[in-house]
Amino acid sequence: MSDHRSAVAAEPDLAHHGDAEVGDGLIDLAVNVRRASPPAWLAEPIAATLSDLARYPDPTPARAAVAARHRRHPNEVLLTAGAAEGFVLIAQALRGVRRPVVVHPQFTEPEAALRAAGHTVERLLLDVADDFRLDPARVPADADLVMIGNPTNPTSVLHPAETIAALARPGRVLVVDEAFADTTIAPGHPGEPESLAERRDLPGLLVVRSLTKTWGLAGLRIGYLLGAPELLTRLAAVQPLWAVSTPALAAASACASAVAVRAERAIAADLATDRDHLVARLADLPGVRLVGRPASAFVLLRVPGASRVRSALRERGWAVRRGDTFPGLGPDWLRVAVRDRDTTDAFVDVLREIMEA
Ligand SMILES: Cc1ncc(COP(=O)(O)O)c(C=O)c1O
Repeated sequence: MSDHRSAVAAEPDLAHHGDAEVGDGLIDLAVNVRRASPPAWLAEPIAATLSDLARYPDPTPARAAVAARHRRHPNEVLLTAGAAEGFVLIAQALRGVRRPVVVHPQFTEPEAALRAAGHTVERLLLDVADDFRLDPARVPADADLVMIGNPTNPTSVLHPAETIAALARPGRVLVVDEAFADTTIAPGHPGEPESLAERRDLPGLLVVRSLTKTWGLAGLRIGYLLGAPELLTRLAAVQPLWAVSTPALAAASACASAVAVRAERAIAADLATDRDHLVARLADLPGVRLVGRPASAFVLLRVPGASRVRSALRERGWAVRRGDTFPGLGPDWLRVAVRDRDTTDAFVDVLREIMEA
């Protein structure tokens, strides 16, 4: 959390992030970053760069590797210091847009970056009565910048690719934050079921990706944007020189390999099993309601008096993410990360005791 920005952020506090809720020895169900150590095929290339840090970074090989992974040309890839930098580049480079619309509830940094760049942001709030699903007709026709997450943090909704694709049109930049796309899976589908990463036919599409979540690389800062070369050239023009470090570039190359993609699919399958277990355990908890069918590494819970419940959980050693800092949610929401079965069982037992007290 960045204190200097929280002072100027509009309510709710867009600068609040789950990492502010952990610490003090709490078990962390607030942050959606996978905690397993990086596999050797990832750790070793990153470590190998430590003997080569006197040189400035060269993004060329990583760019080519990422492009190949998504069946794109290297000039359709812009490597960034995490997805977060991607949002800033978009906000800074596209200062000329007149009607930027952010679809909420979603991760708050896209809107925060737009505001910091001086944009007047319009919020489109999805409705809990629709399980936070998007009706594309609700997006104003003259919105020339639209930002949406898929799957969405914090709702865990996975919008159909065609619903998102329907938002693309000439004269509009459509930003799809796919930071969690690698956590999604569908029976019979070989890849990420609703991703637009490979779509080259949609005008103005910018796909934002992150290597933070599945690979546990939040501290390394590596992500990328996929889109048309003309658009990426505009964003690259406002990016600081050498923004992505040599170790981060090594991670980008490694995570684009066939081995990595296979491993990602296996992790997503395990995650789905763990998520099913969490969902089943939550099903009969008094006062706790799960929205829709969660599709990512976290679930969103409607819990009347969530603040009291969150405090009680903290007293018992558990950190969950408050929901009230997300536009479109209120005081009655908590986001809970999917963890292994034992952690889930221990968590749900404590939550049950609190809810039944
Ligand atoms: C939906 C979403 N997008 C992007 C990010 C930022 O990712 P990165 O670490 O790549 O900047 C986050 C981090 O919480 C997120 O939840």
